[in-house]
Amino acid sequence: MQKVAVVTGASSGIGFALCERLLQEDATLHLCLACRNMEKANVARNKLLSSFPVADISILQIDVGKMESVLHAAEEIKTRFHRLDYLFLNAGVMVNPRISFGAFLHGIFSRSSKQPKWGSQVVSHPNTDQAQSCLDTVMDHPQAEQNEAKSSFFQRAYQMLTTAEGLMSQEDTVTSDGLQEVFATNLFGHFLLIRQVEPLVCSAEKNCHLIWTSSVNAHKSNFSLEDYQHSRGTENYSSSKYATDLTSVALNSHFNKRGLYSSVMCPGIVRTNMTYQILSPFIWMLFSPLFWLFRLFSPTYTLTPYNGAEAHIWLFKQKPESLDPLMKFHSCTSFFGTNYVETRKMDLSEDTAEKLYEKLLQLEKQVLARCNELQHKK
Ligand SMILES: NC(=O)c1ccc[n+]([C@@H]2O[C@H](COP(=O)([O-])OP(=O)(O)OC[C@H]3O[C@@H](n4cnc5c(N)ncnc54)[C@H](OP(=O)(O)O)[C@@H]3O)[C@@H](O)[C@H]2O)c1
Repeated sequence: MQKVAVVTGASSGIGFALCERLLQEDATLHLCLACRNMEKANVARNKLLSSFPVADISILQIDVGKMESVLHAAEEIKTRFHRLDYLFLNAGVMVNPRISFGAFLHGIFSRSSKQPKWGSQVVSHPNTDQAQSCLDTVMDHPQAEQNEAKSSFFQRAYQMLTTAEGLMSQEDTVTSDGLQEVFATNLFGHFLLIRQVEPLVCSAEKNCHLIWTSSVNAHKSNFSLEDYQHSRGTENYSSSKYATDLTSVALNSHFNKRGLYSSVMCPGIVRTNMTYQILSPFIWMLFSPLFWLFRLFSPTYTLTPYNGAEAHIWLFKQKPESLDPLMKFHSCTSFFGTNYVETRKMDLSEDTAEKLYEKLLQLEKQVLARCNELQHKK
């Protein structure tokens, strides 16, 4: 029977490259492009059809930042499909990001780094027979751990340039549903979608794999349970991605027994419409030799959407039940342009994941009540 994959935010960037790569992997797949703008969705579909003329591709309207739109799209998915094998939760926003040179200078000259250390492991590398071989990075070097309190200028600069921690200023707004826009778009709209299509994704006959596009910028220090929508802070993007990681862990503990599995990936640093808001395409072009050189120190400079989708595709090929739910899967590109996937343990606790999950369920009740009320008024 034909497998079905739904991709949110498929109209551009990493989402679109992911769609191309999915069709390269499995030409028999039914691919549903879930986009907020139908014109862009049609352009994306036609572009895919020009490369894959016999591919089975549909489009679906969804604005993940608007809860009524999410409910409508969920109904549509349940009507159209009898199965759902993959749900790529990829749509995302960063509102008016700007590089803050002041924050950068403050960050590199401050004496301590709040960034945690992580261990990393290469799980897919075309030149590595031993796919499980360990790779030491700057961040999990024992010396780096000893020096945590007084990390060097270079370590702090490395930190900021590879994770964008504290490097940008962003904005946020409140949506018509009364939610913080970045939280609603990057996490909650997707959460509501999953919950609404639960009968379809929790099946005794086959597994369903949720694959979230998270970020290396998901920092524990930018998230708090008390302000999980991040209405009071200035790191709303990082907070929303950390909340995504927590939600994925909680979904695994609640739904694995029912055949639903969730994974988070990071595409690395990629030139897309999102990052063109930070630096113009011209500046990206101008600095491209420098970014390319950065790969000597950090494989997270994947740069192209194709490279950025590497971990999505790797996950697409895995049995989800074999994956560790506490790991994040990172797309990486070596200095010589080879793509591979690295796993890093996430800096989170299952207890916090569970607490956030409870809060999301409460919010879901409020949102559903409000949507019902609005429906009755119409
Ligand atoms: N680029 C990077 O370096 C980077 C790094 C880490 C993580 N990510 C993540 O990667 C994902 C894809 O981003 P990208 O870099 O490929 O940027 P992008 O080209 O701007 O793609 C974002 C996609 O999300 C869609 N989208 C935004 N808001 C939406 C909404 N309310 N409802 C439905 N769709 C919506 C956009 O649709 P429109 O075309 O209609 O705007 C677009 O298709 C995001 O989750 C982002 O956070 C990116």
